[in-house]
Amino acid sequence: MKDIYILAIESSCDETSIAIVKNGKEVISQITNTQIEYFKEIGGVVPEMASRMHADNIFYVYEEVLKKSQMTICDIDAIAVTQGPGLIGSLIVGVNFAKTLAMLHDKPLIGVNHLKAHIYAVNLENEMKFPHLSLIISGGHTELIYLEENMSFKKIGQTLDDAVGESYDKVARLLSLGYPGGPKIDKLANMGEATYDLPMPKNDNTLDFSFSGLKSACFNMVNSNKMKGIAINKENFAASFQNVIVNTLLNKFKLAYDMYDIEQCSIVGGVSANSKIREEFNKKYNNLIIPSMNYTTDNAAMIGSIAYHMYLNNEFSDILMFDANVSEKI
Ligand code: KG4
Ligand code: ZN
Repeated sequence: MKDIYILAIESSCDETSIAIVKNGKEVISQITNTQIEYFKEIGGVVPEMASRMHADNIFYVYEEVLKKSQMTICDIDAIAVTQGPGLIGSLIVGVNFAKTLAMLHDKPLIGVNHLKAHIYAVNLENEMKFPHLSLIISGGHTELIYLEENMSFKKIGQTLDDAVGESYDKVARLLSLGYPGGPKIDKLANMGEATYDLPMPKNDNTLDFSFSGLKSACFNMVNSNKMKGIAINKENFAASFQNVIVNTLLNKFKLAYDMYDIEQCSIVGGVSANSKIREEFNKKYNNLIIPSMNYTTDNAAMIGSIAYHMYLNNEFSDILMFDANVSEKI
């Protein structure tokens, strides 16, 4: 069969990323321009600024990725782009760039769901096996997805309020650690002991998560200590918070795992970079895949990975009708 080269574009949040992926597996080249250094100063992503930076950068990232791969647009079989979910202004930049390329060069267009793409990051470095259970943990989402076979997605659990990454970021702000909070809490937690007594959220037999109660408990504990003039030990507090998160994820994951006949499982999304999550899950599941760091945070290679399967299934978008969709769901 002929090799398929997909040029994939990701711009849903604060990373402008473009990759060329061969047959959904081999990353010929990927360039990711992250805005994180900029937003660190501000303390969080400002959507309006993010979209302006995507618009400023996307053409350079595109030129660079073609140059690096020593290919031209003529060598490309299809253009793939994140359709949603994400920040509307950021998505629009990628979507319009993709539509323009597709129209100008007469290429098919593939609109990709960002969350499904996170799961297919697994296929870049490993052979995906089914039935497959995937835990998506990112800044905006916390979902348990069951894939009975290739490209069949069934949402079996989700957060009812905050996402895991969002909780990390909010608690990090509470401790004045800066943005993004996940890696900062992770690092501090490794230097502390879980001495603070925080509640286990939604510790029940359902597959849904809830993290807003934990967040409130953190805020109450820090504020009441402040009022009493007691200093918070940040290392121990971070370790306590992280402990609760990891145990909650382990419990819910086990419930789901035991409900289905699972051949392989994965943890994907930005929070899967977390050292404690990696360590504890790896101890328990020998059929677990966690993509390497390059492919856990937002990246275009994962868009190219899933788009290959959509290409084979003729799942193309109508260029004129195609639009960004902030509330794309699995
Ligand atoms: O998937 P991602 O790059 O963007 C979204 O699609 O949301 O995830 C970003 C999230 C942020 O909330 C960030 O704090 C979190 O991933 N994160 C971490 C770690 N590294 C990034 N959370 C916990 N521990 C980490 N080491
Ligand atoms: Zn993401």
